[in-house]
Amino acid sequence: MSPIRNKTEEAPHGCLRQPVSNGASILIKNGRVIDPANKIDAVLDILVEDNKIAKVAKNIKFDADTVIDASYKIVAPGIIDMHVHLREPGREDKETVATATAAAAKGGVTTVLAMPNTQPAMDCLENIELLKKIIIQDAKVNVLFCAAITRGRLGRELTDIAILKRAGAYAISDDGCSVESDELMKEAFKQAEQAGLLTICHSEDKKLTQKGVINLGFNSTRLGLRGISNASEYTRVKRDIELAQQANAAVHIAHVSCRESVEIIAQAKKKGIKVTCETAPHYFALTEDVLLEYDTNMKMNPPLRSREDLVAIKQGLKDGTIDVIASDHAPHTENEKDIEFERAEFGVVGLETELSVSITELLDKKILSWLELIEKFCLNPAKILGLDKGRLTPGSIADMIIISDQETWKVTKQNLISKSKNSAFLQQSLKGLIDYTICNGKVIYKR
Ligand code: DOR
Ligand code: ZN
Repeated sequence: MSPIRNKTEEAPHGCLRQPVSNGASILIKNGRVIDPANKIDAVLDILVEDNKIAKVAKNIKFDADTVIDASYKIVAPGIIDMHVHLREPGREDKETVATATAAAAKGGVTTVLAMPNTQPAMDCLENIELLKKIIIQDAKVNVLFCAAITRGRLGRELTDIAILKRAGAYAISDDGCSVESDELMKEAFKQAEQAGLLTICHSEDKKLTQKGVINLGFNSTRLGLRGISNASEYTRVKRDIELAQQANAAVHIAHVSCRESVEIIAQAKKKGIKVTCETAPHYFALTEDVLLEYDTNMKMNPPLRSREDLVAIKQGLKDGTIDVIASDHAPHTENEKDIEFERAEFGVVGLETELSVSITELLDKKILSWLELIEKFCLNPAKILGLDKGRLTPGSIADMIIISDQETWKVTKQNLISKSKNSAFLQQSLKGLIDYTICNGKVIYKR
């Protein structure tokens, strides 16, 4: 992965909490420590003192306030999920900062990047100030936010990108929509680069997707549902990369779902273009075939694709073309999902299942090693967003998770704590459970 930012141009602190020193200490004993930044995969102890990682070594002797036995468990940095829809302000019936960040803690996520398609959208200082107040009051994990590219996310007029940066935004995106106009998008890339902000692209050509609801192919014909072609995604991925290159700006492609997008991104990386990308667990765990029962919890945008696409996504994760796994946590109420397929909202929740799905589909199937998996969940998002996180280096803030990687659990509406229950994995057995989530040096979740 080409690092997007160097240390001197780190993103601002936004809503990253400056942890208050509490003088407390935690000693984690005998866990299998996975830390790709320091190339560590070994059974070690970790001492946390005063919110920070103090020491990573064998047999640490210290009279800590809390001692956790992590024998036979995985100890890793907290997940940095760079694609989360918090829904607040505006759609608190779907999710709130409080409920989403509680779900995050349960899923091992210690930092989220909030998408700007709230109501109102995060397109001006006032709206951002409102969100920041809510975050300060209610967030249980670190919440960073992404601001909109265009006012109201309508694709007509650019937001004041420099002001949004000063307000603490880490990135800009019109996620949920793509900016139609090439000129406007190129200008956005230019201004974002000048401001030191990452541009995240929801790459979708609406002229091609039109009213599609599932992947275009045999199933869409058989089910009588309008299809969404791979071309609607990859032609826009290609355009977004070209415009970013012309503007000499960094671009991050969100939720990559199809083979051609992976190929285009791989080629761009070879040419040295500053492009990174993410996929979401449903794109490597599920295919369009699960749609044969018209289950609206399998409806998201981009849609679940073919087996060939799924194989390409897994290959892209393995060969490093795909840098990041993010949930695209998109909560919707029962009323918005439990209706005819064509009218149901696009999107699935994912904060509580993303790690387990990845352990089940990537680790157990030997697509990725633990080091590679933690790189995609922690280190790479930190690098892309310019965060001093995602690593267990002594001196860094203690955001960490302890995972029982051999335990299985069944996803049910009852055991999901997110306000909305629209998971694509309901009733599935998954491997891997979070035992502890430590954020800013404090245990914020314990199973
Ligand atoms: O399925 C999706 N849901 N895709 C998006 O791009 C937006 C998201 C949402 O906000 O519900
Ligand atoms: Zn999107």
